[in-house]
Amino acid sequence: MNKPTKILAISGSLRENSFSTKILKHMGNFAPENVTFTLTDKLEKLPHFNPDIDQDQAYAEVEAFRTELKSADGVIISTPEYAKGIPGVLKNALDWIVSSGEFIDKPTAVISASPMTTGGEEAMRSLLLTLGMINAHIPDGATLGIPQVSLKIDKEGNINDPSLKKDLEQILSILVNK
Ligand SMILES: Cc1cc2nc3c(=O)[nH]c(=O)nc-3n(C[C@H](O)[C@H](O)[C@H](O)COP(=O)(O)O)c2cc1C
Repeated sequence: MNKPTKILAISGSLRENSFSTKILKHMGNFAPENVTFTLTDKLEKLPHFNPDIDQDQAYAEVEAFRTELKSADGVIISTPEYAKGIPGVLKNALDWIVSSGEFIDKPTAVISASPMTTGGEEAMRSLLLTLGMINAHIPDGATLGIPQVSLKIDKEGNINDPSLKKDLEQILSILVNK
């Protein structure tokens, strides 16, 4: 039997009908039985990062996010690209982790998704730089840029592109078997 695995999913979008969030929900739905898949709701609750308030007694919201990360065996981040970078809420969340170190050696998969043909490649590039700085472990094959995402997911969040479904299954399998 496969060992139990806890995956924390982080969407870089707060938008209710976000494609990035739909992708993660889809992955959670097809996760194997031994996998506990949690989509965090902490990003919108975090205060703006400021080193002056990053003290021993962290804010409850910050502590809650750090605890989720600490207890996860692996992390999946799915994000849109905003103005050729990653959304501020995602960068803010990662800035809170620089001093506390929960990403060190954490197996982390990275997905960027955009309605444009570029697939959010600049967001991917920027996110990988930040994750490198906080020493996350990106396993081989655990990155995926999704171009024209709006053609591949319907309103209900169903993925109607077989090759995307396969790619997402593979990403999850790489992370779970790390
Ligand atoms: C402020 C803003 C900036 C954006 N900048 C980019 C961009 O640089 N590159 C890109 O591919 N899409 C860009 N987009 C389009 C987003 O990729 C698109 O709105 C996407 O659906 C957002 O992701 P979500 O569906 O997960 O919320 C931008 C959208 C907004 C609202």
